[in-house]
Amino acid sequence: MKKRLFLYFIISILSAFPSKAQPISPEIYQEQHRPQIHFSPAAHWINDPNGMVYYKGIYHLFFQYYPNGTTWGPMHWGHAESKDLIHWKEMPIALYPDSLGYIFSGSAIVDSNNTSGFGKNGKTPLVAIFTHHDPKGEEKNKDDFQNQSLAFSLDDGETWTKYAGNPVLKNPGIKDFRDPKVMWYASEKKWIMTLATKDRITFYSSPNLKNWKKESEFGKDLGAHHGVWECPDLFSLDDHGKKVWVLLVNLNPGGPNKGSATQYFLGTFNGNKFIPLDEKTKWLDYGPDEYAGITWSNTANRKIFLGWMSNWMYANQVPTINWRNTMTLPRELKIKHVGNDILIASEPVKELAKIVSNIISNKNISVDKSFDLAQNIKEIKFPCRLDLDIDMLKNFSIVLSNDIGEVTKIGYDKSINQFYIDRTKSGKTDFQNEFAAKHFAPRFINNPSTKISLLIDVSSVELFADDGLTVMTELFFPNKDYNHIKIQSAENFSIKKLAYSSLKSIWQKD
Ligand code: FRU
Repeated sequence: MKKRLFLYFIISILSAFPSKAQPISPEIYQEQHRPQIHFSPAAHWINDPNGMVYYKGIYHLFFQYYPNGTTWGPMHWGHAESKDLIHWKEMPIALYPDSLGYIFSGSAIVDSNNTSGFGKNGKTPLVAIFTHHDPKGEEKNKDDFQNQSLAFSLDDGETWTKYAGNPVLKNPGIKDFRDPKVMWYASEKKWIMTLATKDRITFYSSPNLKNWKKESEFGKDLGAHHGVWECPDLFSLDDHGKKVWVLLVNLNPGGPNKGSATQYFLGTFNGNKFIPLDEKTKWLDYGPDEYAGITWSNTANRKIFLGWMSNWMYANQVPTINWRNTMTLPRELKIKHVGNDILIASEPVKELAKIVSNIISNKNISVDKSFDLAQNIKEIKFPCRLDLDIDMLKNFSIVLSNDIGEVTKIGYDKSINQFYIDRTKSGKTDFQNEFAAKHFAPRFINNPSTKISLLIDVSSVELFADDGLTVMTELFFPNKDYNHIKIQSAENFSIKKLAYSSLKSIWQKD
């Protein structure tokens, strides 16, 4: 406890100077539950990833940030940078609230042709497009308190200036009118803004980012609608030489395992309208703890996705002390055909290989009720990665546990052809009554063989099954860190290949 108080004291002092780059003290990243392979802020509250843009070898990650507390508050854009999508450096706050309101979610682009005119002396402007949320208007129960605004950077994303003509897209009288994601539509030389407008998406276009014209609406009667549509994204993916357009729509609440989640639509887009290929509701991640996920702009032919690793059901209550909430691992998105369906598969980015310290492979493991990885692997350490190659899928589970009997089970239930994660006995769960639950995700193929990867951090697991067709992200908060991994099955179950690798902390200097 004394150590915690001391840490809190140090962090309070550090955060009293928010405009300086945050000096990172190694202790900060050793607190209980602190993720070791995921980005989390040195201190205080975060939610959605924002303004993700790749420029001059740097991945910029901005995020909804409240620098004066560990619960949601007046929103700023925090900022972190990475050269490899894995190691992050927290930077000074990029955008502060102002007379037009809090700085809600949005995106950033590289304005290579200086369409905005913000560029000076040949400097390419980076432009951020975000929602100004006016809390006074909200209090007065007005319906036009969310408007879209701009800020630009002429030093490659380090510092930002708000546009004097803000807002650039005024609210027509829709309370939920936010989270602009902007992309360049090359064939018509115009910008497309994809905006969440309550129960649908509205597309706007602009030649210069300042004047916007409404193009069309999408989705009022399609997809999941048990909550508000938020944080959309529109981009194309390659499908054997053809373009498939992807529309991501985050939804809160109404996710497949309650609370917030990311659904997607595949279709065509012609600069004016998005037309879906089918009417099925599809989810990018079936776990409860990926939300507000969107992709980086300017990454050429890779599409890299990252979400907030939490759920609005309990994001304000999770039992961390000095900071609250984390991002998922970055994932690369690809199109896959399964029978007559077209789906998105996600895989952790290949850059993760950088923190793999050693891979221990075991072949042909027969699980006789229970197989403890420690039998074959001298020292099981977290964070780690497990890759299982299975020829004949049966009911089984991978059990993470500690010495005081707390467990999280990741498994497969053949009778329903679903994967699951059960955190009912995972440790601290009583901070909110929906947290202790078992969550399910469908399997999209029926093959007896499968590949499963688990990325396990101190307080989370990300499951990628069938080469990323089924994804689940799940948090847990054990009282003592997990230190055992067992595989259990009541059947005669064997694993063709099991690879374990420990992952180096991204905060560790070496
Ligand atoms: C999604 C969201 C956005 C909004 C932001 C506010 O999590 O509600 O719609 O811009 O968070 O922090």
